[in-house]
Amino acid sequence: MKTLAIYNVKGGVGKTAAAVNLAYLAAESGLPTVLWDLDPQGAASWYLHGDDAKAPDKSVWRGSSPIGRRIVATPHHEQLHLIPADLETRHLDVWLRKDDNSHDRLASLIEPLSEQYSLVVLDCPPSLSHVADNIFAAADRILVPTVPTHLSLRALMTLIDYFKAHELPRTRLKPFWSMADRRRGLHRGLIEQPPKAMKDVCASVIPYAASVERMGETRAPIALSEPSSYAAEAYRALWAENANYLRRG
Ligand SMILES: Nc1ncnc2c1ncn2[C@@H]1O[C@H](COP(=O)(O)OP(=O)(O)OP(=O)(O)O)[C@@H](O)[C@H]1O
Ligand SMILES: [Mg+2]
Repeated sequence: MKTLAIYNVKGGVGKTAAAVNLAYLAAESGLPTVLWDLDPQGAASWYLHGDDAKAPDKSVWRGSSPIGRRIVATPHHEQLHLIPADLETRHLDVWLRKDDNSHDRLASLIEPLSEQYSLVVLDCPPSLSHVADNIFAAADRILVPTVPTHLSLRALMTLIDYFKAHELPRTRLKPFWSMADRRRGLHRGLIEQPPKAMKDVCASVIPYAASVERMGETRAPIALSEPSSYAAEAYRALWAENANYLRRG
């Protein structure tokens, strides 16, 4: 089993859109997949129709209640399941800090999921908190959606510096261009000549597209709702690029 996090300290950059679409494509490709929504906004839970389900609460995070009971099916694919988030998830930072300052709590809750799943996709909240430290410890790969703008690049550089300062493996971080608008000179320029922080950027570029925004109406991955759209093609390419690594082991 592998764990894929979609993370950026910056908000509104396409993390949840990528998490939902990539998790769906993984399931469709035959990998039993569970998307774990770690964001109290619960956007991924909503896209996957799990917004009414019971999210892991303090009892799960403290180990007195099993995570398995919080897993729900999704209507989109039988191999795609969800661990939902709700507003209470906002206390996660406190629940995680209670016992000690270790960063391994999330990893230890993920571990038993390997009996049932080949892939865990983490939809992460936009913060560099104790929750993020747990995510960095648990994830095999961290995809970082990066909008081709200077502030977005700055957020990526902050993350790279954080990894250096905390001796975390930089190779786990894999940025990809997100919400890219090729009509804009700045976007085109940065994509054509990526700065050093983007040296190992994914080749697939997720475009700024109305079809992704429409996921809010359809509440479905675009590979299902608009399979022949340009954006659906881009997510398929992004999945294909990362699939080999995530399928191994
Ligand atoms: N490729 C895209 N093209 C156009 N709109 C997009 C794209 N990706 C996401 N959006 C829209 O931008 C908004 C933010 O997207 P999303 O929720 O995926 O970002 P996020 O990084 O998860 O945000 P947050 O930090 O709040 O969790 C949503 O309204 C979504 O519909
Ligand atoms: Mg989100």
